[in-house]
Amino acid sequence: MKDNIALIGFMGTGKTAAGQALAGKLDMRFIEMDSLIAQKAGKSIPEIFQQDGEISFRQIEINVTREVARERNSVIACGGGLVLNKINIDRLRENARIVYLTASPGVILKRVLNEEGQRPLLAVDDPLLTIRELLKYRKPFYERAADTTINTSRLDIDAVVKQIMEKIK
Ligand code: S3P
Repeated sequence: MKDNIALIGFMGTGKTAAGQALAGKLDMRFIEMDSLIAQKAGKSIPEIFQQDGEISFRQIEINVTREVARERNSVIACGGGLVLNKINIDRLRENARIVYLTASPGVILKRVLNEEGQRPLLAVDDPLLTIRELLKYRKPFYERAADTTINTSRLDIDAVVKQIMEKIK
């Protein structure tokens, strides 16, 4: 039986907030991939992007995913672009059910604006356009990886947690 739950989806779809709450409810460990990457690199995610570039970030993400995939009884909040490297999903899938959280571009924009400066990929003149373009490109990656999907646009964290628990039981 797979005993990890991996949350995938675009930035601002609630992976971290819902993941944390879900882990508390199910008495599971919570793992935030971006925090581990920052820890490993000794700098923040925006600093990794600025100083080393996205390709370096993706390489660290692959290394951290390899380690995290071996954990047990954990809820894993994945970075939004983790699905772009198929090896990450192949590794996670060995012991995780994969839940895909979605939201509309407008809702995503609103949520990420509340945490300004944290998302280097959206630090552009027209973030809504970038969100739309990235979503269009990534949608097939998320859909291919997902065991189940939840649209979080109109849900608060508690409702997202409830839906995840219903879908995976
Ligand atoms: C990224 C999403 C971020 C973080 C990095 C790249 C992406 O994670 O990994 O900024 O490519 O979508 P969150 O989805 O947790 O914000």
